[in-house]
Amino acid sequence: MKPNIRPARPLFSSGPCAKRPGWSPEVLKSALLGRSHRSAAGKARLAEVINLTRELLRLPEGWRVGIVPASDTGAVEMALWSLLGARGVDVMAWESFGGDWVNDVVKELKLKDVRTFNAPYGSLPDVTQASPDRDVVFTWNGTTSGVCVPNGDWISDRREGLTIADATSAAFAMDIPWPKIDVATFSWQKVLGGEAQHGILVLGPRAVARLESYTPAWPMPKLFRMTKGGKLVAGIFEGETINTPSMLCVEDALDALKWAKEIGGLSGTMARSKANLDAVAAWVAKSSWAGFLAATEATRSCTSICLKITDPWFQGRDAAAQGAIIKRATAMLEKEGVAYDLGAYRDAPPGFRIWGGATVEKADVAAVLPWLDWAYGAARDEMRASAH
Ligand SMILES: Cc1ncc(COP(=O)(O)O)c(C=O)c1O
Repeated sequence: MKPNIRPARPLFSSGPCAKRPGWSPEVLKSALLGRSHRSAAGKARLAEVINLTRELLRLPEGWRVGIVPASDTGAVEMALWSLLGARGVDVMAWESFGGDWVNDVVKELKLKDVRTFNAPYGSLPDVTQASPDRDVVFTWNGTTSGVCVPNGDWISDRREGLTIADATSAAFAMDIPWPKIDVATFSWQKVLGGEAQHGILVLGPRAVARLESYTPAWPMPKLFRMTKGGKLVAGIFEGETINTPSMLCVEDALDALKWAKEIGGLSGTMARSKANLDAVAAWVAKSSWAGFLAATEATRSCTSICLKITDPWFQGRDAAAQGAIIKRATAMLEKEGVAYDLGAYRDAPPGFRIWGGATVEKADVAAVLPWLDWAYGAARDEMRASAH
């Protein structure tokens, strides 16, 4: 039986994520279009984004925020290329994006003194193995597995190395202990529901000290350059972007940040995301066929909520058949117009992924879950029938 309640907004993609409730293109009407981003008005707009970000994330004194090119990937790679190589590096990975950073460190930067700690989809490596003497690169929330670090207790306050966290699907939804984080990156397109292509780079004082005392052995593209004559280019962290930003995206980010402030700031955005996870958890507790991919409750993401199929019949199929069932179910949901983009990531175990970031309404998450029951059941029945 098809459920009779439909999500008001069937948008569950993990990026670009749903715009904030109530968003319309109208919010962009006062964007500073056709003007230079280096004009006083342009710089003021960029500085407002930076200041609001700092305020809402409750960054400590001395932590800087820069708007950088190429979305979260750009921000992460800018950090890796600029900071690594000064000491040994520990890289932790437990899903696709973390794997990309391992690849960057090992195969592209070709650093010699590297230890990698990998875990399969659903698990977290033993993060306590990270050495305080070494730099540590990790993903706060693994978007493709729905596994996040539960906290930063494993990071030493007396560390010598830097902590570099890809926090793109964590920022604004999870509690990040900033004094333990020397570098964090994210983009507007995730929890804030902003537009893609601009990255945010958060630098703590120890990362700045590294930048000013260490020059990597490799050439640095202009897009990554944060120092000049051995000094930090402070303007980058005040709105003087390295290259031209989209002032339309900047306006949209401002709208998202103002909305976040209106709903209670970080507490508000975190609570909305947690409510979405709670809705899924209540459903999983009663489900006969689905479970969390994250093996441990404390590591369950409240943003990229990844579900595996526990149904023994499904478990007995091969990977191709499993993939086909999920594909069929997601196609049915799309055709009904009740849920878009909630198939698991292509490299992850076949299953579903519901984005639960702050811009998604709990009522929509609650409404889509019975549709998942319907679509999975229908796809399985079809597959069974065609096997006979
Ligand atoms: C953990 C993680 N890192 C990096 C990225 C890449 O982000 P972007 O496409 O914004 O560069 C994503 C995108 O989903 C992600 O989830």
